[in-house]
Formats: sequence, structure tokens, C-alpha cells
Amino acid sequence: MHGRGDGSKRKELMPTFFASCPAGLAEALEKELQTLGFHTLEKITSGVYFDTNWEGCYKANLCSRLASRILKPVMDFTAYQPDELYQQIRKHDFTKYIKPTQTMTVDVSLKESMMRDQRFTAMKIKDAIVDQFREKFDVRPDVDNDNADLRVHVKAYKNHFDVSIDTSGDSLFQRGYRRQFVEAPVKENLAAGLIRLADWDEKQPLIDLMCGSGTFLIEAALMALNIAPGIQRKKFGFMSLLNFDKELWNKVVNEAIEQEKEETEVKFFGFDIDRRAVASAKDNARNAGVDHVIEFKTQPVATVEAPVEKGLLIVNPPYGVRIGDEDNIKDVYRDLSYTMKHRFKGWDCWILSGNKDLIADLRLKSNRKIFVYNGNIECRFLKYSMF
Ligand SMILES: C[S@@+](CC[C@H](N)C(=O)[O-])C[C@H]1O[C@@H](n2cnc3c(N)ncnc32)[C@H](O)[C@@H]1O
Repeated sequence: MHGRGDGSKRKELMPTFFASCPAGLAEALEKELQTLGFHTLEKITSGVYFDTNWEGCYKANLCSRLASRILKPVMDFTAYQPDELYQQIRKHDFTKYIKPTQTMTVDVSLKESMMRDQRFTAMKIKDAIVDQFREKFDVRPDVDNDNADLRVHVKAYKNHFDVSIDTSGDSLFQRGYRRQFVEAPVKENLAAGLIRLADWDEKQPLIDLMCGSGTFLIEAALMALNIAPGIQRKKFGFMSLLNFDKELWNKVVNEAIEQEKEETEVKFFGFDIDRRAVASAKDNARNAGVDHVIEFKTQPVATVEAPVEKGLLIVNPPYGVRIGDEDNIKDVYRDLSYTMKHRFKGWDCWILSGNKDLIADLRLKSNRKIFVYNGNIECRFLKYSMF
């Protein structure tokens, strides 16, 4: 929740922003924001509060690899009844964000609150906002749930409402490079977060034995080449707001481009049994501008040999929940286990899986276990040091 109960003194000095992230990544996100030069305030399960100005907000949207969205909290209050909620929302001037001819939407999540109906609550909030416009301009913004110019996020927990302006628009995992889809890809910001959790030092060779659309390798290569994850995106939410400063945005983009490297010594290898998956991974890598540093090959996990002596292996085998059937998958896990044990001695291997029975079938002992969510599937991210 956003309410931080810190007297809001700091808010007067420097606006507070909130970077949301998948569960399990908040600590890594906090570190990332600090590395990007931000002053972080507080970490909660769903993300990290940090102080910055609008230039920093642009930079966080462009450069954070782990954040799902950057939100600008604008008010918090307690409300038990719809009319109370309506009156509270009216206290904040929403007409300063967009013109009445632009569009808006409200996203609501309610937990343990008197108001339980998400749609009705969103409608009440929307009414309070559009009434402000109608009274001031005689015109009100239309609602557009998919491509709104103003996206208002509201979270209520135990009747305490936190209201934010979404500065990202589409979620930040949508980098813009993945145009080819395979089944069950991992979200880009989760992939980047897992690479951080695996303590990859941006020097070790990196291999993915079941690379699918290539997300892990592409995200890691973007890190190694210092390419901002949002550099391909055409649109961010803040661009539709009235205070959007295009010159400042161009400055932030140019500064990011100046930091890019053309080459890296790091070696990246991707394998997958599915020819189409490998073709899509190659396309995606090309779109992301990292295809020159990654070698992709169509090959089943059972026959892959380590291409270099040591490095980091990361793999997201099928879970059985979304693709394939359990019996075949058991063989896949056995093959994976055999290959890791016999051909990747000396490597640190990380497996992301949403199926603990299949993990048990590996018959390997993990030396670290981290719980994360891949979409709404609870997964284990397990480390195996192969000696
Ligand atoms: C969950 S998907 C990986 C998704 C990937 N992490 C991404 O972000 O796109 C699992 C992948 O394992 C591959 N696979 C299944 N059996 C395999 C095998 N025996 N050898 C190699 N790859 C296999 C599938 O083709 C699929 O692309």
C-alpha cells in the first residue's frame, strides 16, 4: 500500500514515486534504483518508494529493468462508503493532468474493505474525476480502458485508499522488442530480476538450455551492453500528461544512448528443441539490438555440451501447467538433470519452475530457493552448484 504515514513532509521537498514490481523482486529493485542514482525511501512486497523529480520519473521508466510501473502517488485517505470516497477524490485536482478532450481510466484493487465491488468503486472514482472536468470546462474526458491518456491507480486495503497517477502506461515489461511470441514466455522484467537474483556479474558466460523466445539472454545482453530496456518503446504514460516536457525526455534518452556499449566480451548461448522458438528468439534479439552477441541453436537439452568451461546456466523448463503433458515433461526434466550433472560441472545453474514435483524429479540438491510469481503461477527459482 502507498500510505507511508511519514507526515508527508518529504513529499513537499521532492515528490515521491513508487516503482511496482513482481512479488519477490522488491529487494533487487531497491538496489537497482539506488544504482541508477535514486534515493529510495521504503521497500514493500509490491515495490519501492523513491524520491525524485519528473526527470527522474522519465529515467526510471526508461532505465529500470525490474519495475512493472512507475506510479506517482497523489493522495491517500480512509473511506468506508461510496459517497465518502466520491468526496475524498474530489479533493484532489485531476484537471491538471489532462485536457477534457483526452481520455482516462481507473484501475482499482480492493482488499479487506467495506467497499467490495471493484467495478462500482472504479465508477464512483471515475464520476468524481469527470465531474471536476465537467464543472470546470463543461466537457468531460471519455473513458478508454486500453489506451487512456490518464490512468489512475487506486488500491484500497482495510478501507485505506492510495491513489496514484500511472506514469508508465503499458506495463514496463513490454519493452517493444518481443514481436514474436512463443508459448509461456517469462515477462521481461521478471527475467531481468531473476538474472539479478542469480548474482550474474555481467562477465560470466550465460547459457539458457530452453530459451524459448530468448528473454533471459536478451535481457542479460541488454545489461552487458548497457542498453536501456525501454529504449525501443514508443509510448509511456507520462507523454500524455499536460506537464510532459519533451526536451527533458529527449535529454534523458540521449544520456541513456551515450552510455550504450557496442560490444561485450561476454558470451551468450541459447538452445531450444523447437525450431520456431529459436527463430523467434533470433528475431527478438535482432529487434533488441543484441543479436550480434548471442549464439542460438536448435538442439534438445539431452545432447547439449557446455560451450565454454564455466559460467551461469539459467533455464525455465515447461511446467506442465501451460504447455506439454506431464509424462513427456518428466523426461525433459530427467534430460535436463543429466546434462547439468554430466556436462556442466563447475557451473552455477538456476532453474525457474512452477512445478515442485518435477523439480523433485531432477534428483539434485539445490543450495538456494527463492519464491517468485511468473504471472499468477507461484514458482521456485532454484540454484544448483554443479561440482
Ligand atoms: C517455458 S518455455 C521457456 C520460455 C522462455 N524462458 C521465454 O521467456 O520465452 C520452455 C521451453 O522449453 C523448450 N523445450 C521443451 N522441451 C525441450 C527439450 N527437450 N530440449 C530443449 N528445449 C525444450 C520449449 O520448446 C519451450 O520453448
